[in-house]
Amino acid sequence: MTRIAIVFATSGGNTLETARMAAVGCTDAGAEVALYNAAAFSPSVLLEHDGILIGEPTWGDGAHHADFARFDAAMAEVLAPGRLLAGKGAAAFVGCDRAYRNFGRALELIEGRLIECGAQVLQQGLKIELKHNPTSREYTKRWGRDFVARLRGELERQDHTARMGRADVDRVMGISKTERENRDLQGLY
Ligand SMILES: Cc1cc2nc3c(=O)[nH]c(=O)nc-3n(C[C@H](O)[C@H](O)[C@H](O)COP(=O)(O)O)c2cc1C
Repeated sequence: MTRIAIVFATSGGNTLETARMAAVGCTDAGAEVALYNAAAFSPSVLLEHDGILIGEPTWGDGAHHADFARFDAAMAEVLAPGRLLAGKGAAAFVGCDRAYRNFGRALELIEGRLIECGAQVLQQGLKIELKHNPTSREYTKRWGRDFVARLRGELERQDHTARMGRADVDRVMGISKTERENRDLQGLY
């Protein structure tokens, strides 16, 4: 059985929902999933799994959320020196908001740490803007299913450095180009 750890931090619950939807996708693909709130666990739990998904809302100005900052520092201290995540596949997901200059930048921070710890990032990181809707929930489930397929070598790996821009995130959220233009005209999100 493929074992997946999903670590998350959240303030408003949106990133928890991303974690839950990704978990549904992983389970649909036949994996065994454990969810960990970064505020309550230490990174050594990652050692018990084959695949790792980590997510948090982007915070501050393109920084870590406080709950994940602590987990991240422990990853640097405990896992990075021996590259203890070598042989494991990983991917990251974040909350974002286009009102901020550093749009979803926590993704790069998480991926950088995973790589430093020896893990391989297997697919493009997922950005969810503000609140989930039915389209983004389905996208997230598929993202979880695809991750398990990539971990098993059933699907080609994706270049994680090709980051989702604002238009890509609109596609994830099911916002059409026309809808975006209308929102821009009205000064709405
Ligand atoms: C204090 C604060 C700072 C934020 N900073 C950023 C940021 O720098 N970049 C970004 O893309 N989103 C930023 N966001 C948006 C959040 O990442 C986004 O709303 C996310 O969906 C919140 O997730 P949660 O419901 O799991 O807490 C910020 C939100 C707050 C409240």
